[in-house]
Amino acid sequence: APHFAYRNGTLYAEDVAITGLVEQLGSPLYVYSRAALRAAYEAYRSAIGTRNVLVCYGMKANSNLAVLKEFARMGSGFDIVSAGELRRVLAAGGDPAKVVFSGVGKTAAEMRAGLEAGVMCFNVESLPELLRLSEVAHEMGQRAPVSLRVNPDVDPGTHPYISTGLKENKFGIAIDQAVAAYRTAAALPGIRVVGVDYHIGSQITELSPFLDALDKLLDLADELKAANIHLEHLDLGGGLGIRYDKETTVPAATLIDALFERIEARGYGDRKVVFEPGRSLAGNAGILVTRVEYLKTTEVKNFAIVDAAMNDLIRPTLYDAYHGVLPVSPRDEASRKWDVVGPICESGDWLARDRRIALREGDLLALESAGAYGMVMASNYNTRPRAAEVMVDGDKAYVIRPRETVDELFASESVLP
Ligand code: LLP
Repeated sequence: APHFAYRNGTLYAEDVAITGLVEQLGSPLYVYSRAALRAAYEAYRSAIGTRNVLVCYGMKANSNLAVLKEFARMGSGFDIVSAGELRRVLAAGGDPAKVVFSGVGKTAAEMRAGLEAGVMCFNVESLPELLRLSEVAHEMGQRAPVSLRVNPDVDPGTHPYISTGLKENKFGIAIDQAVAAYRTAAALPGIRVVGVDYHIGSQITELSPFLDALDKLLDLADELKAANIHLEHLDLGGGLGIRYDKETTVPAATLIDALFERIEARGYGDRKVVFEPGRSLAGNAGILVTRVEYLKTTEVKNFAIVDAAMNDLIRPTLYDAYHGVLPVSPRDEASRKWDVVGPICESGDWLARDRRIALREGDLLALESAGAYGMVMASNYNTRPRAAEVMVDGDKAYVIRPRETVDELFASESVLP
């Protein structure tokens, strides 16, 4: 069932009318659907079937505790990139034994926090990081479980800012240097090699980059086998794209079946596999609702000036990203093309361009597919309090983060005597 759909001429999230939510909670407002989150996770689980796979939700996509709690309840692990994210997992009741710790710049304090919590694996991205992790773990009388994140040098065909598996990217250890790095790892006192990892990029809409990267990974696994280095698991990262506009996407089942076909053909069918999906679990489970403040027409453009801005949803201006725009209560009137823009003092403050809609001042709009990399990337630029977040469950709605107040924004600031 579609989780955001029209009924009697107005947009609903599950069984809750968006208009009612905004009356109660104001705008801009992030609205999530619990059923949509669950359905996205279930799509992975049913594709996985009985195979030995751990899904570690790439929680940077949306780390609200209520969202994490849903994934934890369904048995998901978590892909984290900071001590802060680790604290959130623990606060939401997630299992640290199902946590993979990614990121190029883990501090010693973050390594200690991960070791104390007992994370399943550190995905290590460089030799200096490996050496430091060994020292930290050794001091604690432990051996840190480690995968080396390798950089397979494949082009994921996505926006350059979210491509991560190319040689020129800062991520991972070049795959042709990986065997040497694994030998180093295997000899370090504070390290226990458990796996191998990559993440090649985000919003990937084709199968081939995933398969090219896997082929390279399996070649490496063969070399490691010859070097007597055993891999308990293969972490194949996240990156599966979702539909924002008209792009065709790869269903999770297609990806998983294709990957396993090769894993099995190459004799690694007995290994545990880890996935780190973020966007494909949360992206289409949320919308950002905003109200039209003013309609301004000029000689060349029509601007719908709304109360959400780039501080609430930065993806359009940062990546030239497309988010669908739905009128919450569509009007049966003449339409025009509008640029949907915010009140921030920058020309980059736009949310959508050239959208044909019938609009009047005061109307509500919904920006689609805002469940991932929406609220988590929000800022307080222009001293704008961040939006409230609400999660709908059937006919109930729960505020999972109230709207910030202006007082909160500078309560901890102070002036010189
Ligand atoms: N694992 C690692 C190591 C990652 O770096 C990421 C995302 C993921 C998993 C999850 O990837 P996903 O399944 O969500 O594609 N802010 C950008 C996306 C940045 C993604 C960064 N890494 C955006 O709004 O498009």
